[in-house]
Amino acid sequence: MDIEMVDLRGQYLAVKEEMDAAIQEVLISTHFIRGPVVAQFEEELATYLGGPHALGVGNGTDALQIAFMALSLGPGDEVITPAFTFIATAEAAALMGATPVFADIDARTFNLDPACIEALITPRTKAIVPVHLFGQAADLNPILAIAEKHGLYVIEDAAQAVGATYKGKPTGYFGHVGTLSFFPSKNLGAYGDGGAVLANDAALHERMKMIANHGSKRKYFNELVGINSRLDALQAAILRVKLRHLDRYTEARRAAADRYDTLLDGHEAIILPYRDPNSRHVFHQYTIRISGDMTAGRDALADHLKARGIPHAVYYPVPLHRLPVFAEGGARHGDLTETDRAAAEVLSLPMHSELTPAQQEYVAEAVLGFVEAGVEKATV
Ligand SMILES: Cc1ncc(COP(=O)(O)O)c(C=O)c1O
Repeated sequence: MDIEMVDLRGQYLAVKEEMDAAIQEVLISTHFIRGPVVAQFEEELATYLGGPHALGVGNGTDALQIAFMALSLGPGDEVITPAFTFIATAEAAALMGATPVFADIDARTFNLDPACIEALITPRTKAIVPVHLFGQAADLNPILAIAEKHGLYVIEDAAQAVGATYKGKPTGYFGHVGTLSFFPSKNLGAYGDGGAVLANDAALHERMKMIANHGSKRKYFNELVGINSRLDALQAAILRVKLRHLDRYTEARRAAADRYDTLLDGHEAIILPYRDPNSRHVFHQYTIRISGDMTAGRDALADHLKARGIPHAVYYPVPLHRLPVFAEGGARHGDLTETDRAAAEVLSLPMHSELTPAQQEYVAEAVLGFVEAGVEKATV
């Protein structure tokens, strides 16, 4: 059976006419850098997420860097992040000369465990960066309370969680800055790179806007050292179309997650994704855990799926504190037991808005076949 990890072709074909018209419009306008389409998208995105300001930038990594630049993060500063995330979260801090400090995660949600943060705070700590991993909000209230108590910035890395809510409110505007990625496979994906920074504070938004455009408000009158990181108009036009369909895409992902839950339920060796009652999960990934003892483990399941042509992925096989870039210096961490355990046990199954029940049954059958064979082996 033909199954994709992410079906971008199917998603495009379902809105082809609308999408082609939007792209054509930009081509005819020849307004390729910023311009009215980008401004419209920014306004629609902010409205969708219930916040006052959104700025389109080059990608989700730049979004983090722009946030850090605007908050004057620099050498000597420390930033608390999870190590169970994509490299960009910590990379952007390191790029500013700051030190990433990795805190452990909650085993159920894979998100920063608020109970592990305070012990890592020093006089140098400047910010906490919770990541809403796999599409589920981190436990923001205790994180915001810790930040307030210690006078720290909070930057929400919402790259994987556009539209996810925390206590009924969309993520992205809880802290000082929220960042998004529009990498093609993201829930709201461009046809190239793209990202956004979200802020409640108008002055911070203006500062980020300047930083993303060579530190200038007015061309050739540069006030700050900035970078060139602008969302281009073609991507904005594509994203405007997709934003109109995002609720439907999210509902399709959530329905697919429910179907996987039903299909895979009842097996001790498989731990299904935890649904935090505080968050509306948007299932960027459907990530299960395979406990090592009852089966030959996660890597054997990955091999089993590969042999059957079933796409799957391990996000993330090596936590950031063990990557050469940080293992050899430049970062600090607390006890990361749950982070290491997650990295050894997680496996993400195909998840996208076009996934069909038949495809999911095929995937689930293969997963269950593996687990049941493992149980049998363990009991003989
Ligand atoms: C959690 C997280 N943060 C940051 C990024 C960086 O986004 P981008 O690839 O658009 O630079 C990504 C995605 O790639 C991500 O998953």
